Amino acid sequence: MNELVRDLSIPNDWDRRGLPGWTYHSDALFELEKQHIFREHWQIACHISDLPNPGNYLTLDLVGERALILRGQDGEIRAFHNICKHRGSRLVADDKGACRNALVCPFHGWVYNLDGTLRGPSRPNTFPPMDKVEFGLTRLETEIWMGFVFIRFEKGPQGSVAELLKPFSDELGHYQPESVVPANDAIWSQISEVNWKSVRDVDNEGYHVAMAHPALQDLYGSTYYDEPFVNGICRSFATFNPHAGRRWSVRNYVKITEEPQRLPEPLKKAWIYYGMFPNAVIAVTPETVQFYQEFPLSKGRTLLRGAVYRYPEETRRQRIARYLAMRIDRDTQAEDVQLTIWSNEAMASKNFSSFYLSDLEYGVRTHHDHLRAVLPVMTLDKAPHESEITEVNRAMRKANGLAG
Ligand code: FES
Repeated sequence: MNELVRDLSIPNDWDRRGLPGWTYHSDALFELEKQHIFREHWQIACHISDLPNPGNYLTLDLVGERALILRGQDGEIRAFHNICKHRGSRLVADDKGACRNALVCPFHGWVYNLDGTLRGPSRPNTFPPMDKVEFGLTRLETEIWMGFVFIRFEKGPQGSVAELLKPFSDELGHYQPESVVPANDAIWSQISEVNWKSVRDVDNEGYHVAMAHPALQDLYGSTYYDEPFVNGICRSFATFNPHAGRRWSVRNYVKITEEPQRLPEPLKKAWIYYGMFPNAVIAVTPETVQFYQEFPLSKGRTLLRGAVYRYPEETRRQRIARYLAMRIDRDTQAEDVQLTIWSNEAMASKNFSSFYLSDLEYGVRTHHDHLRAVLPVMTLDKAPHESEITEVNRAMRKANGLAG
């Protein structure tokens, strides 16, 4: 057995069906997902190196909420709702930027300090005395783990990020992810016209790699392996196929990539993906650390978002390897986008009830099981009436001992 494989066996009698098709195109279910899947679970906002200096900020919109991640003058990274306490204007309109020592609301000019406290309203004599904290920005729960900045809009079933991802900390720690810096100017994003679960379904299994991803298949050969979702996390990995090289980018990548000193032997030629429920992956290669995720914009529209980070002391060879790896990833992502569209279309067809999954797609099933645990209404093959989905789910959650 490959030394990178963890012993997570698959039961013999697992249910091979995926979620029923209706769960991919229900407005009522989407509202429940916004609350229980997205607001109540940790989300990766960025990496600490995206905000290198005091006053650097970044914004992120997610299921109707707006987050502002800001490095204060004391060097601390904090997250706030990007909502002015006066009349709710977006305090910061840009995706990313830098301010000197205060943020000024573009609506009426209230001024906030970089620790989120209110410095003062404009025309202060038109207000009674105001408490700087009470009228300061509302904090969002924030946790920094291995250099990644996580935010959560509301408390939910997950504990801390460090607890959740602890099984990965030793292995991922070899990559020294706190030390990386952005490889590109900005966090990338693109919109795909599918339900977010269709994106995750494709990403959660490698059964399709041999057929659909010629470049990845050339790189990995038969070494690719997916571990299932267990306690909110999963892991996939591959090592370089010794016969890799049918494709130009793969041939040259394998030839030029270096074996970094920081990595122990089995990781020197590996690509590893660490999945985190509900929607995020941290991925590593010998020359990069990256994250990617998907956020639903509506039941049929999804924002794909991510960023690649490099080592500050990157050599010329590592830079070229990173470029070639990016080409392989770019092809893979374009291929995946098409697959997600076809899969998502089928979910609306009367002639397709659900998936029938291979053992190699157990990760899809276990992700769905996590969704079913949070939203038990998804266990119903036949959709309740749209007007009843919320109530049916509330009753089922209650029966399972969860708050409505
Ligand atoms: Fe921000 Fe009025 S909404 S100052």
